[in-house]
Amino acid sequence: MEWKIGVIGTGAIGRDHIRRLTNVVHGAKVVALSDIRPENAAGIAKEYGAVFYETGEEVIRDPNVDVILVASWDPTHAGYVLQCIRERKYVFCEKPLGVSAKECRNIIDAELQCGKRLVQVGFMRRYDRGYRALKEIIDSGKIGAPLMVHCCHRNRIPGPQHTTDMTIKNSGIHEIDVLRWLLGEEYETGQVLTVKQNRSAQDGLEDPQIMLLKTGSGVRIDAEINMNSHYGYDIQCEVVGEKGTARLPDPNTILLKTDGTRSCQIYSDWSERFIEAYDIELQQWIDSLNQGALQRPSAWDGYAACVTADTLIQARLKGTIEPVLIREKPAFYE
Ligand code: NAI
Repeated sequence: MEWKIGVIGTGAIGRDHIRRLTNVVHGAKVVALSDIRPENAAGIAKEYGAVFYETGEEVIRDPNVDVILVASWDPTHAGYVLQCIRERKYVFCEKPLGVSAKECRNIIDAELQCGKRLVQVGFMRRYDRGYRALKEIIDSGKIGAPLMVHCCHRNRIPGPQHTTDMTIKNSGIHEIDVLRWLLGEEYETGQVLTVKQNRSAQDGLEDPQIMLLKTGSGVRIDAEINMNSHYGYDIQCEVVGEKGTARLPDPNTILLKTDGTRSCQIYSDWSERFIEAYDIELQQWIDSLNQGALQRPSAWDGYAACVTADTLIQARLKGTIEPVLIREKPAFYE
């Protein structure tokens, strides 16, 4: 079967997903799209033979659209996802699911009431070859029980609208999700350390920040979130266990030795570093629609990540260690 997809938001990742759904993924066709900046979107619609709508609401309502992909700005996600649930349409929502735990709770309540899982969240690191290998090693017990995790998330430079809160809510949220998935447990407390600030950080932006998390079993995590590395997009993760360590491999790039130097490329952004993960993520989403059984990350995962992000922001503002208060998980999300 070919799923007819409506895409909301045709910026950087929206466009990339439209290309992917058209040229890479099997069993999908983009038939409608919308963006509040019609000047770009109308051209993209023409290029892909899709219908252009002025609003995302019209895309969701279109009876010719089976499923929705939301790739608009963060504050618009929850509203569109709720409308999809009301219309009983499957929706793939780019991260974050909402901009607050409250928005995500509303989505969970709506999905529970509907009685069917419809929502998948775009935490694509779970589909990355390196992270999957890391999880296999942790789960195999080869390094014993994890004790500590050291990670960093470095962007070359942030986007023009980037704020101090977004460092956690928009970027750090990838670490929050992938680490609770890797370790298979929830967080108990969160804290944010301010470090010496980068003089090239944009006006008012606190950068870098260090997120400190403690899980229920006592694993300690430190994650550097650094928006102004200048040298590239660099994601690192090392898990220290009772009898060994495991480190996320760098992506496959050629190691070049020439003129007395050894070098390899560092990617400049997420679209290059995780290109394969996005391909797998969307193919598996389509496959799961065919099987009528959505995979994770679910709305619950989107909620848990948002609660943790909200907690970390509070912890940063107050300069305290805060408890991460996640509500009891309904059996529906097991
Ligand atoms: P962008 O700014 O390049 O594109 C967003 C687009 O959404 C813009 O064209 C904007 O006009 C449009 N838009 C805003 N409000 C809208 C509305 N109400 N209805 C329709 N269109 C609307 O941003 P980018 O980088 O493409 O990010 C989009 C979303 O995807 C963000 O939520 C971001 O967090 C997420 N993202 C996820 C990534 C991942 O690794 N999973 C990577 C990059 C972005």
